[in-house]
Amino acid sequence: MASSSSCRTWHCLLALFLLSSAAYGQLSPSFYAKSCPKLELIVRSTMTKALLAERRMGASLLRLYFHDCFVQGCDGSILLDDVGSFVGEKTALPNGNTVRGYEVIDEIKKNVELVCPGVVSCADITALAARDGVFLLGGPSWAVPLGQRDSATANLNEANSDLSVTSLSLDVLIALFAKKNLSPRDLTALLGAHTIGFSQCANFRDHIYNGTDIDPAFATLRKRSCPAQAPDGDGNLAPLDVQTQLIFDNAYYHNLVAKRGLLSADQLLFNGGSQDALVRQYAANPELFESDFATAMIKMGSLSPPSGPPTEIRRNCRVVNS
Ligand code: HEM
Ligand SMILES: *[C@@H]1O[C@H](CO)[C@@H](O)[C@H](O)[C@H]1NC(C)=O
Repeated sequence: MASSSSCRTWHCLLALFLLSSAAYGQLSPSFYAKSCPKLELIVRSTMTKALLAERRMGASLLRLYFHDCFVQGCDGSILLDDVGSFVGEKTALPNGNTVRGYEVIDEIKKNVELVCPGVVSCADITALAARDGVFLLGGPSWAVPLGQRDSATANLNEANSDLSVTSLSLDVLIALFAKKNLSPRDLTALLGAHTIGFSQCANFRDHIYNGTDIDPAFATLRKRSCPAQAPDGDGNLAPLDVQTQLIFDNAYYHNLVAKRGLLSADQLLFNGGSQDALVRQYAANPELFESDFATAMIKMGSLSPPSGPPTEIRRNCRVVNS
């Protein structure tokens, strides 16, 4: 770079250092402290409004964020609509018909753009919305690593491959998370997200009818609203946490110990394998769960897109800038 050879004063060097660290995608909770100091307030108030309209939205936005981060990193790729020849991730098998909350992201983005136009990425808005959803439902809070940029691409294939598994076992789940540099402990903490929100019958039918690792009384209860024969009742909802479905607590782990996990994937964490001891610890110690969950969310939120593809601050979260 021509400018670097002529950069001799300390503040010039400092400016270069700051520029280059931004270019390397340094994430920091104070990323917008100067450029958009009201950001977190705007997200919190819009999320509060969204949860007053529908409490489940806290769960839905948490799931949306997970499905964003596992595909190309936390880059807002999941938010892109299919338009013309552009095919995004919304129709991927694990996303279509189950991921919800896109309108809430639009609403937050609209409110943020009014105050700091063109500054805050849709990726970061999604991260803050997920954090606030957890907090507003009674869960922990954490300092979100901000400064992620929005991708100009999406990846339908990666959404199909990295958000679902063909054969289900604890080892397969551990490998799925290891691919994202998340440890088995992170996996067990992050699945605690299933302490809030709902699943459709189509996604737990097999477990309640064919599962061997399930409390029979719990299976009977769930069968009442989930008929055996697909597609009958495919979309019927049941809470992922049979005890406190819209409170972010550690009841999920109590359920697992009692063999009342709703999804096969849930019960895999407590089936005589390597995560049993940790599940018992989280059931006994809610503070430990909350702090491990927050740590794992920060780790997941630090997943960045592979370097190369262009990134931007999208004006509209649903389309790449033209
Ligand atoms: C192996 C990992 C995982 C699997 C197999 C899985 C699977 C599922 C399935 C099948 C549903 C129900 C979707 C529906 O029927 O509409 C669901 C819901 C949900 N998942 Fe996961 N999940 C996993 C990990 C995670 C993680 C890491 C998080 C967040 C950190 C998360 C958060 C949620 C939430 C909050 C809901 C409820 C959403 C709502 O009510 O709108 N899940 N998950
Ligand atoms: C139970 O498993 C069998 C064999 O894999 C399968 O054909 C059947 O559809 C399953 N039943 C339900 C309700 O999922």
